[in-house]
Amino acid sequence: MHSMLVLNGPNLNLLGTRQPEVYGRTTLADIEEMCRAHAKTLGVGLEFGQSNHEGVLVDTLHAARGQHDGVILNAGALTHTSIAIMDAINSIELPVVELHLSNIHAREEFRHKSFVAPVALGQICGFGARGYTLAMDALLSHLEAAK
Ligand code: DQA
Repeated sequence: MHSMLVLNGPNLNLLGTRQPEVYGRTTLADIEEMCRAHAKTLGVGLEFGQSNHEGVLVDTLHAARGQHDGVILNAGALTHTSIAIMDAINSIELPVVELHLSNIHAREEFRHKSFVAPVALGQICGFGARGYTLAMDALLSHLEAAK
């Protein structure tokens, strides 16, 4: 059975109340529930996490090695700044799907730069909370093809 880590970065714990006009009204707990239900349907294992701290995200990525077959990462604002997260992704040698609820390319220019994109399998953005299950489908089809 394949196993996935869904990891969320800073401020995503506030989903539902944080700028709902940008991020929607779905909470992170709702998203976790959607992902868990989808994991059951797909027959994959799932770990779901969130941290506001860059170092904790790096540690969690390191710990995914040997535990999971791939990662779905919404690194929040750290996407646009963190070389440490980029290096961690390169170090763990696991496929990582970059995810954003909003379309980062249609927003402020500073959000167009992603340190995750060059080391990611691919990027899903702009589909709101539904992006998480789309990312799970994309990651699973990659894992199945790589078998
Ligand atoms: C985000 C987009 C980032 O630019 C922003 O800093 C976030 C959320 C998204 O899911 O749309 O925190 O990653």
